[in-house]
Amino acid sequence: MSGTTKTPNATYDSRQRPLRDLRISVTDRCNFRCRYCMPVEVFGRDYQFLPREEILRYGEITQIVQVMVGLGVRKIRLTGGEPLLRRDLDQLIASIAEMEDIEDIAMTTNAALLADKAEVMQKAGLQRVTVSLDAIDPAIFKSMNGVGAEVSKVQGGIEKALECGLGVKINTVVKYGTNDQEIEPLVDYAQSIGVPVRFIEYMDTGNVNQWKLDEVLASREIIKRLRESRNLIPLEESQPGETSRRYGIKGDSSGFEVGVISSVSQPFCSSCNRIRLSANGELHTCLFTGAGHDIKTALRGGANQTTLQSLIAAIWSSRADRYSEQRSEGLVYTKKEMSYLGG
Ligand code: GTP
Ligand code: 5AD
Ligand code: SF4
Ligand code: SF4
Repeated sequence: MSGTTKTPNATYDSRQRPLRDLRISVTDRCNFRCRYCMPVEVFGRDYQFLPREEILRYGEITQIVQVMVGLGVRKIRLTGGEPLLRRDLDQLIASIAEMEDIEDIAMTTNAALLADKAEVMQKAGLQRVTVSLDAIDPAIFKSMNGVGAEVSKVQGGIEKALECGLGVKINTVVKYGTNDQEIEPLVDYAQSIGVPVRFIEYMDTGNVNQWKLDEVLASREIIKRLRESRNLIPLEESQPGETSRRYGIKGDSSGFEVGVISSVSQPFCSSCNRIRLSANGELHTCLFTGAGHDIKTALRGGANQTTLQSLIAAIWSSRADRYSEQRSEGLVYTKKEMSYLGG
C-alpha cells in the first residue's frame, strides 16, 4: 500500500497524505548526549528541561491518542528524549494497548535501561522497540553517546528485549568520518542476532548540532559499500509511508534485512503520514517545524473529545509540510530539537 492510498476514516492533509502514525515524546530528557542530537555543551548541568507541570500526564496523552484514533491513527511510537526515563511508562502503554484500532505500539530507545524494563513494557502491550546503536566498537560508541555509556549495556538490552518476545530493530545514524567504518560491524552484529538494521542519513535537525552536508554519507554510498561484501536483494515496501528502503541478503534465508533511511538524499515527504506530540502537548506536523500547535491549553481547559477532534483535524487538513524536499532551498528559521520533538 502506498502512503497516499485511501483508508477508511482517515484524515487527509492538503497534499492528500493520510494521518496514520503518531509519535509521542514522553520526556525531553535523556541519559545520553549524542552529539548529533543533544551536544553536551548545550545540554549541560544548567540546561532548563521542561518543568514537570508542563508535561502531559498519562491520562492527557491517552485522551489525545483516543481522538487521533478517530482521525485514522493506527501506529503509535513512544519516543523522547529517552522514554524509559519516564516513570511507570507501562501504565501509558497499557491504556493505549486497550484501544481496539491501534495496530502497532513501538518505542524508540537507546536501550541503556532496556534490560531492566523490557519485560514489564512487553507485558503492558509494547510490541516493538527500535534501538539506537551507532557503533559496535566500544570507544567509538562511548564517544558518540557523550556520557561514556558501554555498548555492552545496549547489547544486553537488545538481547533481553528479544528474550521477552519484543520485535527489535536497530537504527544507526551515520556521520561520515565519525562512525562510517562501523557500518560493516553493525551489519555483522545485527545479522548474528537476527535483527534488522537501518542506516539513517545524518540530518539537520534542530539548531545546535552544527550539521554539515559533508558529514552526511548518502545512502547510495552505504549500499555501494555493502554490495562489495554482500549480495543485496531490494525488497518491496511493506508499510504505508515507510521511511526506509530495505534489502535482503542473498544466501541468508532467515529474513534478515538491512535498510537505509535517506531523509537527506532522497526525501520521503510525499508519503509522510506522521504527526508528533511533544512532551508538553504541542503537535508538530513535520520534524522540521518551528512553532508547534498548542493542544494542551484546550485539553486542560476542559475541551471534550469532539472539540479536540475538530482542532486536530483542522491542523492536519491544512498541513503542507515537505521540509526535506525543500532543504536545498536554504530555508532559515529556528527549529525545534529532536530530543524535544521525538525521533
Ligand atoms: P518503523 O515503523 O519501525 O518502520 O519505524 P519508522 O521508520 O516509522 O520510524 P523510526 O523511528 O524507526 O524512524 C527512523 C528514523 O528515521 C528516525 O529516527 C528519524 O531519524 C528518521 N525519520 C522518521 N520519521 C521521519 C520523518 O517523518 N521525516 C524525516 N525527515 N525523518 C524521519
Ligand atoms: N539525524 C538523524 N537522525 C537523528 N536522530 C536524532 N538526531 C538525528 C539526526 N541529527 C534519530 C536517531 C535516533 C533517534 C532517537 O533520533 O534515529 O536513533
Ligand atoms: Fe538521547 Fe536518542 Fe538524542 Fe541520543 S539520539 S541524545 S539517545 S534522544
Ligand atoms: Fe515528513 Fe517533514 Fe520528514 Fe518530510 S521532512 S518526511 S514532511 S517529517
